[in-house]
Amino acid sequence: MLTDASQMDFHLARALLAWQLELGADEPVGDHPVNRYELAAEAPKPAALMPAAPVAAAAPQVASLDPVAVAKAAAAAAGDLAALAEAQAAYDLCDLKKGARNFVFADGNPAARVMVIGEAPGRDEDMEGRPFVGRAGQLLDRMFAAIGLARTSPDPAGALYITNVLPWRPPSNRDPEPEEIAMMLPFLARHVELADPDLIVLMGNTPCAAALGQRGILRLRGTWTNAFGKPTLPMTHPAYLLRTPAAKREAWADLLEVKARLAGTA
Ligand code: URA
Repeated sequence: MLTDASQMDFHLARALLAWQLELGADEPVGDHPVNRYELAAEAPKPAALMPAAPVAAAAPQVASLDPVAVAKAAAAAAGDLAALAEAQAAYDLCDLKKGARNFVFADGNPAARVMVIGEAPGRDEDMEGRPFVGRAGQLLDRMFAAIGLARTSPDPAGALYITNVLPWRPPSNRDPEPEEIAMMLPFLARHVELADPDLIVLMGNTPCAAALGQRGILRLRGTWTNAFGKPTLPMTHPAYLLRTPAAKREAWADLLEVKARLAGTA
């Protein structure tokens, strides 16, 4: 067994790095390694080994909480978008929160006529705390600019409001679990209710699964439907368009649908 890095040659070091990437360690998070097994050994002792606490001071039974019911209550109690962001950021029953650097709520003009719903923050969004700021986000901005909409527009008629189904980055950008979607859905529904856009664009499969209970974006895209009581158009995700440039043609047709609907002609 190797005991120090000086015994490693270039090829071995590269193979170890590739192995770590395969395990999902795709970015450095600290200067020093942390042995989490040792931390676990030092973790607080189980309640059975601790002196009995007075009954009145007993901790709430977190394990018995229904995450969706807790999310529904927290979301319903929020009277405006700032309160909703605060309530969602404080929600502790989604494990994604533990691995994320930042809470990513929304970006753009909340008064916009169009609300875009994406999947979840990626690496860039997690670092910056804003949705769609990486390569896919830059393409999204260019796509909507082509029909005269921008997240920076102060005029609601030319503005965009952007959020995601999940406000925390899934590790290594894995697909969100159905349970994670279910516990974030009450926050998303309240988000739409408070922002009250004229229409919604669902970007990719995850928002379709959350808002429509359906997957299959290549079948769903381009056909108007209804989500959260609003006219809604599913579209392919800009990350898909970056990988599949031939699909941009259909995405352009979908953008023209949005433009026509805003102008009252579709
Ligand atoms: N992809 C998404 O769906 N949302 C983001 O915020 C970034 C990339």
